[in-house]
Amino acid sequence: MKLITTVEEFNKFRQEIKENQNLGFVPTMGALHDGHIELAKQAQKDCDIVAVSIFVNPTQFNNTEDLKKYPRTNKQDLELLEKTGIDAVFMPSEVEMYPEKDERIFDFSPLDTVMEGKFRKGHFNGVGQIVSKLFDIIQPNKAYFGEKDFQQLAIIQKLVKDYKYSIKIVPVQTMREKDGLAMSSRNLRLTEAHRDAAPLIYKTLTQSLKQFGTKSVKEIESFVMETINKNPFLKIEYFEIVDAKSLQQISDSNQTNEPVGCIAVHASEIRLIDNIRYNQIK
Ligand code: PAF
Repeated sequence: MKLITTVEEFNKFRQEIKENQNLGFVPTMGALHDGHIELAKQAQKDCDIVAVSIFVNPTQFNNTEDLKKYPRTNKQDLELLEKTGIDAVFMPSEVEMYPEKDERIFDFSPLDTVMEGKFRKGHFNGVGQIVSKLFDIIQPNKAYFGEKDFQQLAIIQKLVKDYKYSIKIVPVQTMREKDGLAMSSRNLRLTEAHRDAAPLIYKTLTQSLKQFGTKSVKEIESFVMETINKNPFLKIEYFEIVDAKSLQQISDSNQTNEPVGCIAVHASEIRLIDNIRYNQIK
């Protein structure tokens, strides 16, 4: 496995890849778990060569404390990627990625004004900045993103379309712990009590699945919020049933063929997100 830390070195690596070889790319912020490895394995199935990036991107954090405390486990990450058989890891420094302040403003509207965009101001602009930089450097044929970050995935698809990248975005389904909790690097920071409470999020989402089509959207939203808020270790930030493409909230189940429930929950200072597609029962 090649460990590359500069853009110049990556350019050399990229030039050595033949025209008829496909490069698959998995962008990450490290603290790797099985969800990331699933993305990498999917990339290995589809592509001749796979590159993974590890970079904790400061511009997508709207909270400096969250950035400071974001788990960093580089040594284990590299061992895991080596074991998985990844061809190259791009692990640049902050100066390498941002030699000067990135002043670019991305317009992902209306996708970035709702849910995460409403509660984490500037977050998706930061994601746009780093992912576009990474796409320009890596120049992958395919890039892999997890469905847990449902809104991010929609925004990346818009980025690719608007900026005419010839990159195929491959969504990969959310990997879960045995108790249903969506895998996330942030899970590492949960206290024991919050970790015990956290599976209630997905459990409640799956319960709401059975209600879809029989109860009103408003009733389902209230059910999810009330059930989760009853747990003293969890506090809902939002739960919305939205159209999977526009991400706009629906008020009636017939308003879309692709309803998806998106949720953000605070488990003390840790913010957990998850989602469920309601059309899987149709
Ligand atoms: O999903 C993530 O880990 C990050 O948002 C990404 C796509 C690596 C950009 O920093």
